[in-house]
Amino acid sequence: MIVLGIESSCDETGVAVVKDERKILANVVASSLKLHSRHGGVVPEIASRMQLESIAGIFTEAMQIAKIKPEQIDLVAVTTHPGLPGSLITGIAFAKALALSLGKPILGVNHIHSHIYANLLYPGNIKLPAVALVVSGGHTSLFYLKDFYKIQVLGQTRDDACGEAFDKVAKIMGLGYPGGPLIEKIAQGGNKHKIKFACGEMNTGLDFSFSGIKTAVLYYLKDKKPGIKLIKDLAASFQESAVNVLVKKSLLACKRKKVTHLLIGGGVAANGVLRQKLMASAKAAGINCFFPDIDLCMDNAAMVAGLGGYLYKHGARSDFYLNM
Ligand code: KG4
Ligand code: ZN
Repeated sequence: MIVLGIESSCDETGVAVVKDERKILANVVASSLKLHSRHGGVVPEIASRMQLESIAGIFTEAMQIAKIKPEQIDLVAVTTHPGLPGSLITGIAFAKALALSLGKPILGVNHIHSHIYANLLYPGNIKLPAVALVVSGGHTSLFYLKDFYKIQVLGQTRDDACGEAFDKVAKIMGLGYPGGPLIEKIAQGGNKHKIKFACGEMNTGLDFSFSGIKTAVLYYLKDKKPGIKLIKDLAASFQESAVNVLVKKSLLACKRKKVTHLLIGGGVAANGVLRQKLMASAKAAGINCFFPDIDLCMDNAAMVAGLGGYLYKHGARSDFYLNM
């Protein structure tokens, strides 16, 4: 089955073609990130205007890369939630128009679940049930995954998402946007033990909290004129604290649910320190930990097409009243 995936939940516009739920034939992503950076965050109006202008061209490009004709598409899968309303509507309207004109079915897909599915776009021996951690700019959640159509929330952030904390801390430190990759880069060579931050340790459960650490960084820098050494130490210490809580709670969730497979997804999963620490700690605990490659950690439509195909095969259906 050939599935066309459409992803437009935030600043990216993605169109992908995936065959038989796992084989990527094309995965085109255009980002309007540069246009947002001077505002220090995504401006919804700018994002949706760019998506409206670019989506048809990106679709044509995906068809060319996949070397297929639109008539060969069997299903159109589109992100319906969560996300920015104007951005989601653009993708959904395009998906509906395309599916209707081709006389093909359409299926709405959950953006967060598709981040987990990104792990299945590689050859690998993933066994369900598993625990999944999705860490992005908008979400930080732990799930128990009996299957992709049976997903239970185990814990989530009570305030800021982890990626949001990276973005806000980078802004406080004057590094720019998006903050995650900038913090990771500047933290290299910094002393991660310099400053002790408590990060989301407010409970022994599986919920997270990242707003306190952002405020702690703000107060730490108050009335200081930090040099590059202190900025590096601060970035490394913040990153260490954020990563440690993600590792600790992910392993705790695996232990509680008695599972040996852990799937990670979302933009923050691109972080090298998180990848290394989680891999090593999971291995020591006898848990198989999976991360998608960096480009599939970020928002993309291949994960939407893959999950759409999988769910459709297992009986999921949408109609043309489908909305956000
Ligand atoms: O999944 P994603 O592309 O979009 C959302 O659905 O939110 O995630 C974007 C988030 C941003 O907050 C960004 O700062 C963060 O992922 N991010 C990172 C890294 N690369 C991206 N955070 C930490 N380290 C990174 N290397
Ligand atoms: Zn995302």
